[in-house]
Amino acid sequence: MSETDGNVVREVAMMQMDRAERTVTQLVTMTEIAEFAEVRRPTVSNWRRRHPDFPNAVREEGQSALFDSAEIARWLDARPLPPTLLAGGDGERLATYGDVFRRGLELRSLGALRDTLHGDRLLAVALALTALRVLAGEPLTLDGVPDGIRHVANSGRSGEAQALARSLRELPDGIERLLDVVNALVLSAGGARAVERLLSQADRLGSANRQNATPEVVSDLVAALVGPMAGLTLLDPAAGLGSLLLRVAGVVTPAKVQAADVDEAKADLLRCRLICHGLPAEVRGVDALLDGLSAVADVVVVDPPFNPLDRRTNGVPLAAELSPWAEAAVRFLRPGGRAFLLVPLAALRSTPTRPGGLHPLAVDGTLRAVIQLPRRLHSFRVGVEFALLVYGSQPGEHRQLDDVLFCDADRYTATGVEGWVAEVAGWLSMPDAAPAAFTCRGQPRRSLVPADRLTDLRPAAFELARLREAQIALHRFEPELADLPVEPQTRGYRTVGELFTVLPGRKADDSRIRTNDPTGLPIIGVAELTGAVAVGSRSIGTLDLSDAAEVTYAGDVVVLAADKIRAMVDEAGGSIVQSPAQVIRIPGFVDYQQGRPDAQGRPREHPGMTPRVLAALLTAPRNAGRATGSLVRRVDLTRLVLPRLKTGEVVRLDEVLATIEESRRGAAEHLAAIERIQAALVAGVAEGALRVIVDNDGVSEEGS
Ligand SMILES: C[S@@+](CC[C@H](N)C(=O)[O-])C[C@H]1O[C@@H](n2cnc3c(N)ncnc32)[C@H](O)[C@@H]1O
Repeated sequence: MSETDGNVVREVAMMQMDRAERTVTQLVTMTEIAEFAEVRRPTVSNWRRRHPDFPNAVREEGQSALFDSAEIARWLDARPLPPTLLAGGDGERLATYGDVFRRGLELRSLGALRDTLHGDRLLAVALALTALRVLAGEPLTLDGVPDGIRHVANSGRSGEAQALARSLRELPDGIERLLDVVNALVLSAGGARAVERLLSQADRLGSANRQNATPEVVSDLVAALVGPMAGLTLLDPAAGLGSLLLRVAGVVTPAKVQAADVDEAKADLLRCRLICHGLPAEVRGVDALLDGLSAVADVVVVDPPFNPLDRRTNGVPLAAELSPWAEAAVRFLRPGGRAFLLVPLAALRSTPTRPGGLHPLAVDGTLRAVIQLPRRLHSFRVGVEFALLVYGSQPGEHRQLDDVLFCDADRYTATGVEGWVAEVAGWLSMPDAAPAAFTCRGQPRRSLVPADRLTDLRPAAFELARLREAQIALHRFEPELADLPVEPQTRGYRTVGELFTVLPGRKADDSRIRTNDPTGLPIIGVAELTGAVAVGSRSIGTLDLSDAAEVTYAGDVVVLAADKIRAMVDEAGGSIVQSPAQVIRIPGFVDYQQGRPDAQGRPREHPGMTPRVLAALLTAPRNAGRATGSLVRRVDLTRLVLPRLKTGEVVRLDEVLATIEESRRGAAEHLAAIERIQAALVAGVAEGALRVIVDNDGVSEEGS
């Protein structure tokens, strides 16, 4: 900042202080001086102790010394801000601690008005005065308000004039102070910064409006996705106070801006805010979902209302609550336009209710992209995760229906890389070059959550890091397992149906199943696979089976695809598998294991898979979550995919899994022994039957 600028700021501030002094001398405590000047409290004590010219207290009240704020401001003018603070958070022209102090003081004077005006009304009056001051182009007086509004109406801005008139009617006494603050703020900081500073005080003033604002970074992402749009039109049909709209408009400079909000009071605040920013816009106080809005635009942005708490009580699925917003956003689009809809992630997990099995938020195939946003994005809705949906104006306009681009920006930011907004915008502008670790294409059916779709595509680096972490934790106990060498690989997949034989389970009649009868054929069904009963405890007599019993082979893998996939190896064979459990058989495994030569009398080749490895891969998270998920029908095991592995890798993995199994058994025995000793010791002492012998007996016999 130049010296001249600094002088201007100070002169303006002096004028303002003079006015304030004329009305009333404001007194401040040392704590308030620290708060307004944005320094720590001990700093003020130091200033007072070390500088003989620090203003004297005007009077003492209880323990507090009270100072004249004007004297303090002048004294602080001699203290320049350190270079790191000079720019000010919002780019304001602040040069000295005096400037910072005055800013805090101004805003406190608004707080003093809270007794006269409720938070939202105070904000409405403050914003309307600021807008009128901006339109007037010169300092406002209270007497000049009606004329000012008339002037706005006569200049063809009747909507804005009405908003100003509504906000500024029946002003209470004491509003001159607010007018002083507004005049000084606009003069020193300009209309846009003045209104933003007032809004940033909204919470302190008891207004809850700001809590609904779209997070800045989401607006930045939308702006980056829209790109330069000179000549295009922009619409936000649920604009609130316009944080999203303003940020997008600020970056892309549209030719025309339209906005609506069902809440008339918010629409008025928005009109005033936009005036202060010098952004001409058509703002309507209408319900955008009830045909109250007949707008068309090239770009539609919407952060629709939703309330997760209400939703739980009214029972309407979130996707159904939000789909009218998605439909409206698309309806408002001009051909070739794009709409952006912010939704909570939970709305993307839904069973299809639309023709063709489309997700309710797919809007007849107009959905182009789903961006799962980084978590903890919303400071007022902590714990809710969000996604941004991108729509085109017509179904399948540029791409096929199944070409929705699913992007996981949350996973991308988890890698610790900076600059996710530009990166994600790049994925959408060049989808063919988008990284497979974070994006994929698919149909908008069932779950639209990108993370669900990308389970197969976890980057090797991510998996390796997770394994390394586990290995470090294990090193003290099992150095051999911890040192197992692994490396990234990309060799693709094959389906279970291509590799193995899948056999259905039998419909065994429950009334014929016996318990603890070793003479029958052991049953493996839901109870065994879920661990409810031990294998072998249920059986069925051969005569009770309606036809020749098809029993398992040793090494068959019995699988249940219900809430998740469960699998167990039938080591002994000879069991009856009860549906809905099924059998996966590795061709040639029994012959290989029993050392039977092939038809030409040669030793058999390894079948390329072992039951233990197969069961482990089937129950890995990648497959386990799919049983009722979006990609595989509940019982269709044949479509599950397994990685291509070389036989040597399978054999080694089998050994490692066997070692892990053994270690687990050993650790379980160890743990059980520890628990037994604890139980026996405590029980004996509690019964009064046992006591521990203290080495140095007699030191503390009666410890308790
Ligand atoms: C999450 S806020 C929007 C915040 C805004 N994007 C911003 O950055 O300030 C949602 C807004 O939708 C408005 N709204 C709710 N139902 C509406 C409807 N049917 N038509 C228009 N606006 C509506 C609410 O009043 C609220 O201001």
